[in-house]
Amino acid sequence: MAHIRHKLLLLLAAIVHSSEWTSLYWPYDPRSLPERNWLKRNCKSRHLTKKQEQLCQSKLDHMNYVNLASKNALQECQSQFHSAAWNCTDFQKSRKDTIYGRHAKAGTKETAFITAITSASLVRELAMACRRNLAACKCGSSGMFYQAAPFHLPPGTEWDRCGDNIGYAKTFARQFVDIADMEAYGESEKCLRAVNDRSPDADKLCHFFKKKGRIEKEKIHHRIAKLKMNLHNSDAGRNTVERTKKVTCKCHGMSGSCNQKTCWHDVADIRTIGNVLKEKYDSSQRIKLSVKKRHTVGGHIVEEVELKDPNTREKRKVLPDDDLWWIQKSPNFCKPDRKKNILGTSERECDPKSEGDNGCKKMCCGRGYYKEQFKVIEECNCEFKWCCQIECEQCEVTKKVYKCK
Ligand SMILES: *[C@@H]1O[C@H](CO)[C@@H](O)[C@H](O)[C@H]1NC(C)=O
Repeated sequence: MAHIRHKLLLLLAAIVHSSEWTSLYWPYDPRSLPERNWLKRNCKSRHLTKKQEQLCQSKLDHMNYVNLASKNALQECQSQFHSAAWNCTDFQKSRKDTIYGRHAKAGTKETAFITAITSASLVRELAMACRRNLAACKCGSSGMFYQAAPFHLPPGTEWDRCGDNIGYAKTFARQFVDIADMEAYGESEKCLRAVNDRSPDADKLCHFFKKKGRIEKEKIHHRIAKLKMNLHNSDAGRNTVERTKKVTCKCHGMSGSCNQKTCWHDVADIRTIGNVLKEKYDSSQRIKLSVKKRHTVGGHIVEEVELKDPNTREKRKVLPDDDLWWIQKSPNFCKPDRKKNILGTSERECDPKSEGDNGCKKMCCGRGYYKEQFKVIEECNCEFKWCCQIECEQCEVTKKVYKCK
């Protein structure tokens, strides 16, 4: 029964939350000049909400970076989870509802990581674009945020106040990414209120939460909690870019002397940000949702969905802005499950000696593993010949890999 309910929730999440900017698929190279007309037409996308489409139209030149950000986030996710049971498999080619697969919409740890890395990646791309040339926020424009120098700048150092524009980037990213969840949040709250008020509008406002003609309040609560979780994690991603920013300097003056420098704020590379978020993923904890119910003077019932830290048993009114939150247990990713876009771990490479995620014990989920040997031709016995060549022989080498049954 619990299993069935779990499935239903998952399905529901997929229906309600079909808009997902990271699933935009634009087949041009974002670093080359975009085909503007093509892009203009494609602000219309089932992956964008109406408001996101409007933002896309009005900030067309930002969309290159949106595209680039979602690509880089995917790449970083795959490299962080390269040797884990869940390897951030993408379904971009199948062009179905979501590039990360349906299971990733459910509110799990993986959902949390994806939300954070994509939102961080967007801030990063935009911040760099501002420093380079993006009209809306380049140096001197109205979207410019002058940046104060850090306290200890050595003598002979000039501070460039027009570094990577994290301020502008965060504002735009918040608008663009959170707008979809905010809208859904507003709708869910409206529905909850209507149900509690026994309003005749409830039927219309809550059609997503209906099953056999009955509105399931539990689902509304879960949905609100998931949207809160998304908004929190996307904020955590943006804050990570802020926290990992660094100071970069360029030397001037006589060659090599470096007695004159210019320094500015620089975003960290995506690997650094990915590392930080992966650590947060590893240490993240399930957050419980609690529903606070009260009666107003007028006899109305008001319900508030809150997220609760299971350890401190304290309601976190002020959400700590840097850890990742999730509300639903992950599937184990061992067995294939087509409905959830889970491929299973059979045929995955593993290390028989490792006790970690990439160890055969964990990766193969108890099914065991097998050895695969194959021969490759490599260069060997290389010799340096005067002057100036390296000559090698071709050798046949046997390689071994271990794979899950
Ligand atoms: C992830 O694992 C699946 C098998 O479960 C494999 O087909 C796929 O190539 C892997 N992807 C990456 C990016 O490693």
